[in-house]
Amino acid sequence: MALTENEPTNSVELQLARDTLGPFIDAPTAQLFLPQARQIPQAAWEIIRNVLENNPQAREDVACLTKLLAEESQAALDLNMADLGANDTAEPSGFSLKPAERLPLTEKCHHYAGQHEVPWDIQKYFSQRYSIFSYYDDGVYMTDDAWFGVTPEPVANQIAYELSEDHYDPKKTTLIDAFGGAGGNTIAFALSERWERIISIERDADTLACAQHNAELYGVDPDAITWILGDSFDYVDKLVNSPETLHPDLRVDLQTTMVFASPPWGGPGYRTDEVFDLSTMQPYSLNQLHEAYKKMDHLLFLPRTSDIRQIAKLAPGGQKLEVIQYCVEGASKAMGAYIPGEVSPASEE
Ligand SMILES: C[S@@+](CC[C@H](N)C(=O)[O-])C[C@H]1O[C@@H](n2cnc3c(N)ncnc32)[C@H](O)[C@@H]1O
Repeated sequence: MALTENEPTNSVELQLARDTLGPFIDAPTAQLFLPQARQIPQAAWEIIRNVLENNPQAREDVACLTKLLAEESQAALDLNMADLGANDTAEPSGFSLKPAERLPLTEKCHHYAGQHEVPWDIQKYFSQRYSIFSYYDDGVYMTDDAWFGVTPEPVANQIAYELSEDHYDPKKTTLIDAFGGAGGNTIAFALSERWERIISIERDADTLACAQHNAELYGVDPDAITWILGDSFDYVDKLVNSPETLHPDLRVDLQTTMVFASPPWGGPGYRTDEVFDLSTMQPYSLNQLHEAYKKMDHLLFLPRTSDIRQIAKLAPGGQKLEVIQYCVEGASKAMGAYIPGEVSPASEE
């Protein structure tokens, strides 16, 4: 058991915590309660155990645990995490979304060193690992799912270049990467040093841990990226409609912000159709993406066969849109569609 130096001296209370939490006493969030074990009754330990047992994320994520405890019972509300010193950088509580902490790599995060370790369905991607991440051998980590969606480094660099101040509206100073994944694009954006703020959102904690690790590996300034563990549609909706519910660090000016979105690709005919119907794209259709981001300029990173007639319909006020094919070694990998936002000054002229 990995207790901290704050371990309560009274072993009776500690034993109570140990007996009730069982194996979950080793969870990083459970450890935060131990210094205050004297004030925590058995009933509260039981609630904590119940929440930790049923919610793996709550074992790592203080905000998640706090929320679930509050939902679990009124008694749990008395376990004020800030009073417990659970989060030294404690923000005012009650915000629906806040910046993610640095998450630990988990058993779902892998650095495969050789082909023999790689699951069969990832072998093809593994053989392209250096064009995905040129620093792969330095210790890049990915979840198995992340291999299928990560943007190859040359493409990520090209996109970052297109969005540089010389090539894109320099008044845009904040970039939201709505689907952060293992960090392919987020890292390239950060290394371009063009953005005052980068907000990168990923809903899967294991994948976010890989992205944070990979950003460090690539030498990205830790302050350059604000990470969010959560649903990017939820975040953008709150940003547009109820920014006061967001942690102050997550509130940004829509006029000076743009969104980059590389959603998962799927849906009927996505691999086979000559022209892919973006209204059937899964899990998020073109319209769903556009509806979410339409107040801001957005660059959508889409399948290479995407139907550009559907994209053209998104142009506000009959403007022309720019659409780009991103190629690696002569073969197109993806299509990028630049859509101006409704509130951007450019679209009002
Ligand atoms: C195609 S990958 C993005 C790859 C990323 N650009 C990179 O280079 O690593 C899509 C990612 O979006 C995440 N995701 C899917 N739906 C999401 C949502 N609603 N909010 C935040 N992340 C989401 C998935 O877990 C997945 O990691």
